[in-house]
This record gives sequence, C-alpha cells and structure tokens, in this order.
Amino acid sequence: MSMLSNRKIVLGVGGGIAAYKSAELVRLLGKAGAEVHVVLSEGGARFVTPVTYQALSGNPVWSDLWDARMPNHMAHIDLGRDADAILVAPATADFLARLAHGHADDLLSTLCLARAVPLIVAPAMNRQMWESPPTQRNVAQIRADGVAVFGPAAGDQACGEVGMGRMLEAEELLERLEGFFVPKLLAGRKVVLTAGPTFEALDPVRGITNVSSGKMGYALARACAQAGAEVVLVSGPVSLPVPADVKRTSVTSALEMRDAVFAALHGADVFIGVAAVADYRPLASAEHKLKKTADTLNIALTPNPDILAEVAARADAPFCVGFAAESRDMVQHAREKLARKGVPMIVANLGPATFGRDDNECVIVENSGDTTLPRADKLTLARALVAHIADRLNAA
Ligand code: CTP
Repeated sequence: MSMLSNRKIVLGVGGGIAAYKSAELVRLLGKAGAEVHVVLSEGGARFVTPVTYQALSGNPVWSDLWDARMPNHMAHIDLGRDADAILVAPATADFLARLAHGHADDLLSTLCLARAVPLIVAPAMNRQMWESPPTQRNVAQIRADGVAVFGPAAGDQACGEVGMGRMLEAEELLERLEGFFVPKLLAGRKVVLTAGPTFEALDPVRGITNVSSGKMGYALARACAQAGAEVVLVSGPVSLPVPADVKRTSVTSALEMRDAVFAALHGADVFIGVAAVADYRPLASAEHKLKKTADTLNIALTPNPDILAEVAARADAPFCVGFAAESRDMVQHAREKLARKGVPMIVANLGPATFGRDDNECVIVENSGDTTLPRADKLTLARALVAHIADRLNAA
C-alpha cells in the first residue's frame, strides 16, 4: 500500500510550462490513493485549465481568494486545515520570491502563509533564473523556514537551453512525496546493496546470466533511501530507473560486483546482498566471438567469490543481510546459509517463481527465530524489512 493512501494533498500549480506534468501528477496521486485538491495561481490557470484538474482529481479546483463557493470565504484557511501536505509544483521564481518574503496576495500564497502543515515546493524555471543570486537567496531562505525543496533537475528546457531548472517528472515527484511520509528509521545510516543478476562473459557477445529482474533489490534501495539512509546500490545489468537519492554503480560480472561493493563499504552500517550472483564464471572469456567448430562444446567454469560471505568475514563487517531464493525447503536452506555465510539475517523467498513479479512473500530467518512477511508488493515488503533491520541496529 502506498504511503500516500488516504492522505489529503493540496497541490498548488504555479504559472510555468511544467504545469503539464502536474496534471499527470494529479492522476498518479489519485492512483496512489491520495485525495487531491488543486489550487491554481493566476499564471497556473493559463497553462492548464481548471477543467483538467477537476476531471483528474474529482474535486473542485480553487484559484480565487474571494471564491463564493467556500461558505465562510476562508478558502485560504480551510483548504490547508486538514491537509497532510501542500506541494507547489511548478514553483516559479516569482512564487519562491513571494514565499521567501511572506507575501499573501493571492489564494496560493495566502494558503502557504496560513498553513500549519508541511510545505514542499518543486521549482521549475529557466536555468539563468534558477542560478540567479536572488533566486538562490530565496531558496536558502525558504529552506531555512522549513520548506522542503524537491529538485529541480538538469536537462533540456522548454526555452531551448540546457541546464538546471527543469521540474522533476511526475513519477519522481510522486516517489519523493511518498518518501516524505516514510518514518526515518535509518537516518544517519549508510546501506550498501547488491541487486539484479550478474553476467559472466564467454566471449564478446555471449555469457552466462540468470532471470533476476532486480525489482526486489531496487525496491529495498528505494525503501532504505526513503527511510533516510545514504544508499549505494551496486547493480547487475537490469533496465530499472534509479530510485530517488540512491547512488547506483552499474556492474556486469560477479568480480566487478565484488570490487564495487568493497569500494563502497567504508562507513557502511548495513550490507544487503539481494543480487542473484552467478556461482561460477567461465575460466576464460574468449577475446573474439567463439566459432561453431564442433558438435559439442565444453565450457570450463570456476567458482565466483561469495560477496556476502566475504563482507561478513571482515573485522569491521556491517550488519549483513542475505537473500535466498529457494524452490523447496525454503527455511531450512536459508538457515544453512545463515551459518555458512556467517550472517545474522537471511530473507528466504520462493524462487525462481517470484523473479520478475511485482509481489512476493518471504520469511526472515535469524538465529532467534523466523518472521513471516505475508504476500505483498515488493515495496511494502521492503518497508517491512527496513523496519526489521532498523530494530536490530537499534538493539545492537
Ligand atoms: N551471494 C553473494 N555472492 C555469491 C553468491 C551469493 O553475495 N557469489 C549472496 C546473494 O546475494 C544472496 C545470498 O548470498 O544474498 C544467497 O545467495 P544464493 O545464490 O541463494 O546462495 P548460494 O551460496 O549461491 O547457494 P546455492 O547453492 O543455493 O546457490
């Protein structure tokens, strides 16, 4: 279940071309179970009309401080009163300036000044406007006032320039807003994870790999980052987007994965091995494409290092968590791995049937006993795991 389920979000839309993304954001928020109330600035209403937001949110849209639909003429108070957060996206340079100085001359600015709930802004503007000293001063001021700032991102701009100032995409805003409500159980902690399959090359075009999708590892990286951790995700070849606030290092083979993990371990509190690391690699990888010369081809394989066991064996080992996808005797195999790899926690799940799926169920196996996490989507499971790991860290 999304952290946004049953939350009331007031979405303020300023006058910027990025407003087209806000229409999509309303749809995504609704899909996540949030109740959305849209407030448009005068400029915001010029880019996308109220009809669109009303159709997408299923709620009346507001823009006038003197709107007679609000029985007590207190729209600036009532709209924000029982909201969980106000998000202004796009927040223009002018809006940020007025927010920094406490202006209250339209419904949106008055609502922000009169609020008692968290305020988040997603800036969107031309790169020079963003980099200008007044805007930077205003952003520093509103941050100091306790306002959260999502983005902006760098990239192509509607004005034809390239640089910092693009509003985050609707999916990124949704992910960050969701993260805003996640308890910060891992604040101040550093987590290193592995995810996805490895690919062990036979020649320049072929190799040995497996069907791991990386979904569980990426969901866990996202849940850790949303819980406030500094996260390094060492990922095998998958085509998944990098979760917000996660540093991803892309690798191909198990040997590269080991090197990347060891390079990232300094200062880590937790290591989570979610990757389906190939147990063996070809003894030699041919420099040129192998030719079909015989009826049978024998490939000599050599074992890969066990990354999880090596991390756990270090004198300064972080809290180590392994994953075990088993096709039978799930808990028994996981318990054997707990001992063999010298780790305090193995998360057992029924694989490979779960590879690539969006949901899963698992059992957390520890020396003290087993904890079953019932079937749920992978992000929900990841959040439960984060809570479990945080408990263990706090007890240590
Ligand atoms: N693992 C690892 N390095 C390896 C193999 C596994 O870090 N070379 C980690 C995985 O990321 C996972 C855990 O060890 O967290 C268990 O992986 P699994 O493949 O189930 O364990 P194996 O030791 O390979 O056992 P099996 O004989 O079942 O393949």
